[in-house]
Amino acid sequence: MRQIGESFQAPPEFFSSMQSATHVAVLTGSGVSAESGVPTFREAQTGLWAQYDPESLATPEAFRRDPALVWQWYRWRRELIGKAKPNPGHLSLVEMEALIRGYSLITQNVDGLHRLAGSSAVIELHGNIMRTRCTRDGRIIKETSDSSDNLPHCPDCGSLLRPDVVWFGEALPRGSYHEALIAARTCDIFFSIGTSGVVQPAASLALEARATGAIIVEINIDDTPLTQFSDFVFRGTAGNILPSLVNSIKGR
Ligand code: OAD
Repeated sequence: MRQIGESFQAPPEFFSSMQSATHVAVLTGSGVSAESGVPTFREAQTGLWAQYDPESLATPEAFRRDPALVWQWYRWRRELIGKAKPNPGHLSLVEMEALIRGYSLITQNVDGLHRLAGSSAVIELHGNIMRTRCTRDGRIIKETSDSSDNLPHCPDCGSLLRPDVVWFGEALPRGSYHEALIAARTCDIFFSIGTSGVVQPAASLALEARATGAIIVEINIDDTPLTQFSDFVFRGTAGNILPSLVNSIKGR
C-alpha cells in the first residue's frame, strides 16, 4: 500500500495504471459532499448520527411510528441540500469521466450533487432525497401540497408518501445494486472516496473489485477498514486531492 499525503505527487505507478485502465469504477460517500456543506454521518461531533438517532429517523419502523417526525427531518435535510452546490471534488469526477473509456460512478449519497455537477449515469445506491414515492406501490410521485395531517399523500391512492431513500433494514434498489456490482467486478481500478466503508452492501463493492484483480485507490481524510486493502491511499479532502489528481492525469 502506498500512502500519499495532502501535498502530494502521485507515484508513476498510479499514472501508468490509470493510462492502461479501460474501466474505472468510483464509489463515493458523504465525505465528497462535506465541502459543499452537507453533513457526513459518522464523524464525531459533526456527523448526523452523532446528533440524531438513526433508529428514530431512518428506519421503516420509525416512519410507521412517527411519520411526521421523519418527514420533518427529511424536509430539513432537503432544505439544506437544496442550497448546496457541487464542489471541486464533484467537478473533478465529471472531468475524470471524460478521460476514461469505461467509467462508472456509484454513490451512496442521496443529495444528487454528482448529477448537478454534470456526471452522467450516476448509480444512486441509496436513492435520492429530493424524490418522493408512494408507500403502497413505490411509484415516484410529484409531491403536491400537504393534507390536513401535514403529511404528503399519494394523489392517486391516498397512501402516505415517503422520501425515495433507502432506510436501515431495507434492501437497495435492485437494478442499481446489480449495476454497481457489475461495475465493481469488471473495473481495472476502483476508487473509494469519502466513505467510511462500513455500510453494507456498498462497502463490499471495493472487495468485490479487489477479488477480480482491480487496483484499489482510497481518498479520505482518515483511515477506514478499506485502507489496509488499498494499493494507493491519498490522505486529504476529496476537494483537494481530486482536482490535483485529475489535472496530473490530463497533463500526461
Ligand atoms: P460516513 O459519515 O460514514 O463517512 C464519511 C467519510 O468521509 C469518513 O470516512 C470521513 O473520514 C470522510 N470524509 C469526511 N470529509 C471528507 C472530505 N472532505 N474528503 C474526503 N473524505 C472525507 O458516510 P458514508 O460512508 O457516506 O446511508 O455513509 C454511508 C451510509 O451510511 C450513508 O449513505 C447513509 C449512512 O447511514 C443511509 O442513509 C442508508
